[in-house]
Parts: sequence; C-alpha cells; structure tokens
Amino acid sequence: MPQYQAGQWNADAIFRRAMDTFFDRLAGVCEGAVAIDRRGRIVYVHDRYLPTLGLTRVDQALGRDIEEVIPNSLMRRVVETGEPILLDILELGGQHLVVTRMPIEDEAGAVIGAIGLVLDRVDHLNPLLAKFVQLEHALRDARRQLFEQRRPRHTFDDYIGSCPAILETKRLAMRAARQGVTVLLHGETGTGKELLAQAIHEHSTRSGRPFVSVNVAAIPDTLVEAEFFGVAAGAYTGADRKGREGKLKIADGGTLFLDEIGEMPIHLQAKLLRALQEQEVEPIGSNKVTKVDVRVIAATNSDLARAVERGAFRSDLYYRLNVMHIALPPLRDCLADLPAICDKQLDDIAARGGILRARMTPSAIAELARYRWPGNVRELRNVLERAVILSDTGVLTKADFAVILPQPQAAGRRGIEPAFDRLRTYAEAEAEFELRTLEDALAATGGQADEAARLLELSRATFYKKLARLRQSRK
Ligand SMILES: Nc1ncnc2c1ncn2[C@@H]1O[C@H](COP(=O)(O)OP(=O)(O)OP(=O)(O)O)[C@@H](O)[C@H]1O
Ligand SMILES: [Mg+2]
Repeated sequence: MPQYQAGQWNADAIFRRAMDTFFDRLAGVCEGAVAIDRRGRIVYVHDRYLPTLGLTRVDQALGRDIEEVIPNSLMRRVVETGEPILLDILELGGQHLVVTRMPIEDEAGAVIGAIGLVLDRVDHLNPLLAKFVQLEHALRDARRQLFEQRRPRHTFDDYIGSCPAILETKRLAMRAARQGVTVLLHGETGTGKELLAQAIHEHSTRSGRPFVSVNVAAIPDTLVEAEFFGVAAGAYTGADRKGREGKLKIADGGTLFLDEIGEMPIHLQAKLLRALQEQEVEPIGSNKVTKVDVRVIAATNSDLARAVERGAFRSDLYYRLNVMHIALPPLRDCLADLPAICDKQLDDIAARGGILRARMTPSAIAELARYRWPGNVRELRNVLERAVILSDTGVLTKADFAVILPQPQAAGRRGIEPAFDRLRTYAEAEAEFELRTLEDALAATGGQADEAARLLELSRATFYKKLARLRQSRK
C-alpha cells in the first residue's frame, strides 16, 4: 500500500483544524477516531481503532477511500452535506459501535473533511439499552391506560336498536345501573357486552370512579391470580419486587368488568368469590387483607349454567354473579335494526378515518339481512369497513357486499359436490372439516383469531394449535 502523500494543506490542515476544535479532547476517551478529506480519503486513524478495522498499522488505512475500510461509513455523506450525524450506531465486523460524525470546516466555513469518533461499543451499553427498552414498554402501557381512562365511554345511546329484544336488554341494563347490583351479561361475540357494561357504569353512582376491564381469557392461567389480587412487595425477586396492585384494588370505588368470566381457572374461583363476598383482597405473598369496594359486571358468551352442570364453573360463584342476568340478542334476531346499526357504524367509520360518510342502497341492506352474522355487530362493522375501503363511489351497493360476505350458496355446494377424485379416509375428512370450520370463523371475524376462537367456543390456545397443525398437514 503506497504511503499517502499529503497535499500542502490537505492532511495537515484538516488534522490541525480538528485538533484546534474538539478532537484532542475526545480522541483520548474514544474507542476509535478517523478523519477523511473532502474526497472521502482517510487522512487520519487513531491506532486504538486499528484492531476494530482489522488493520495493524495506521499507514494501511491512510489515503484509502473510507468505504474500503469501513463499508457502511456515512462519513462521505457528512462531507457532502456539511451536516453532522451526532449519534448513530455503526455496524462494523459484527460489532455495533456508537459513533458521532462531524464535518470539518476551514476558516472560510467550507467543508474540507469530516471526523468520526467511536464513542463506545453497544455491548458496553447493553444494560442501559435493556433499561431503555423496558422504560419504553412501561411508558407505552401507561399511555394506553391513560388513553383507556380518558376515552369517552359508551352510554346507553350507543346501544342501537329498537326491536323488542334490544329494548328489553336496554331496560334491564338501565335498571341495573340504578340499582348497582352485580350483573351477568350473556351474549354471543360482538353483541355489545363491553359496550353495555361501560354504559351501566357510566349511568351508575360510580361513574366518577374507574371502570376496569379484565379479559380473563386473555390472561395466562398462571398470571390470573396476580392480575386480580395483586402481589405483595417482596413476594418475588426481580421485576415484581416492588409489588403490584391487583385489578380488584385498582377498581376500588368503581366497576370491575370481568370479561369472559367462563375462562376463570376453577382453582381461583373460590378466591374470587370470597373477595367479592367479603369485599377484601389478599395479594399474593401477603398475609394482610385490604378492604375494597367494587361493583362487578361479568360477561360470558358461553352458557355458564351448562358449565356449572359440567363442573367447569363453581355454582356458588355463578349465583353470586348472576344476580341480574341480562341476555344480549344476536344481530340475526334484530334484522329490523340493521339500517340503524349500519348508520351508526358508518358514522363512526367516517369519523375515525376522517373520510366521507358512505351511504348504503336499500338492496345493500337487503343483502346484509340475508347473512347470518355469527360475529354480530363487530362482524358487521368489519364488513362495512372493508366495503368502504373497496368502494370508489361512497355508495355501497348489493354488489359491493356480495364480494365481501361469505356466500351461503357456495358453502352449500361444497357439501354435495363430489369435489374429490378419491374417497378420503375418515381422518382426512375430519381434518378438512375442522380446518374449514376454523377458516370460516376467521373469515367471519375479518381474520381476527381471538374473536374467531370465541365464536367457536374454543380457547385461544387451542384455536391456534389446531390451526397451525391443520394448515401444516394440508401442505
Ligand atoms: N347494539 C349495538 N349498537 C351499536 N353498536 C354495537 C351494538 N352492539 C355491538 N356494537 C358494537 O360492536 C362492537 C363489539 O361490541 P362489544 O365489544 O361490546 O362486543 P362483546 O359482546 O363484548 O363481544 P366479545 O364477546 O367478542 O368481546 C363494538 O364496536 C360495539 O360498539
Ligand atoms: Mg367483549
């Protein structure tokens, strides 16, 4: 490698200028330093940097293009733009380096080169980065909670419909709000259980206090107890060292919405019952009980009475929750309310998307009325959203929905046509049927696996497991 011949001012002037300003102070504490001239050629390397660059002598780098030595270097960009890159992570030979890059200017302010400093290796910073990621997560959780708390809650006006079943449901819910009794909401997925629970809370004397929603099905069995009752300080080592409040405590003075209560692990049902009866909680690892004042609204889409018969749900807890039983009708039983419900959803979709409010033709409504809506209003909402996205005109017609809705005729045909050129084994037919059931549910919920699992009354874990296995075996 020929020795680089510095021009009259190039190498020297650049280096001196850097020394004059900041370089001498920084270079000493840095893991590496490199400087280039205006044409991107290396004019200086600190010898501490050499091992990282895979070099043994400074002269092996001098005069070479910066990218030859540091392939991902952005030094040339700094020279070209005159803008520093104050903090960046540079990947070099499998290592991650924290670097800073600054232009070097002559007395007249013209860029004559750039200097790059390696401040540290990221692996030294790992504990710091881990902490950063952890804080970022905590912040996100806090923001989400804040958002949930501030979001205007549903009121009874949001529960649309005037068919007898809906009016009866609304009447009971309003009474529940006044009386403050424990309520069990029972309805298929997407029928508005969460909506009504919020409305009941809003119209009760507790409306100024928290509405805390816990989806029992979404919590792993092993964490349910901690989630509900909290953890005393010092009960575990590690993250929970400081202890954590349970949802019962957080809902103190307000309403606790126990969604998917049927999924409550049986061994914790007695503890929950005791907490509700005594209005006391005992956090894990604590031997003290704390008083709470919580109103409970529970929801289920499965038949809890049957679960009690099967022994999957404790009868005493069932009776404690079922003080007022409110059934929410499925959408297919309220088809007369379809236009009003669609209106409300289209208003919502337009407001959220900041788009023009779509309209529907009467034949479009008629087309929707022919469908069974296993996912109820939530499914309707998904279908309308898709139709709005796909529509060019903003007027939704029957044809717009024909392409979105699963076609019942097609499903029927599948059943009678000899679609297979050989007789399948029983196991194959069964797998085919299972997979189709799962995929139909996915289609009905717009691809939302959680909802699809609920529709089929499967646990989420079972749903995913079956889906993965069946899809795999189809390949
Ligand atoms: N009668 C209704 N009028 C207006 N909107 C409704 C009605 N029923 C449900 N919705 C809307 O449908 C969506 C689903 O409702 P919600 O989440 O309350 O259902 P859910 O019964 O809790 O379902 P899941 O059992 O799947 O949790 C929400 O956007 C809700 O606002
Ligand atoms: Mg719900």
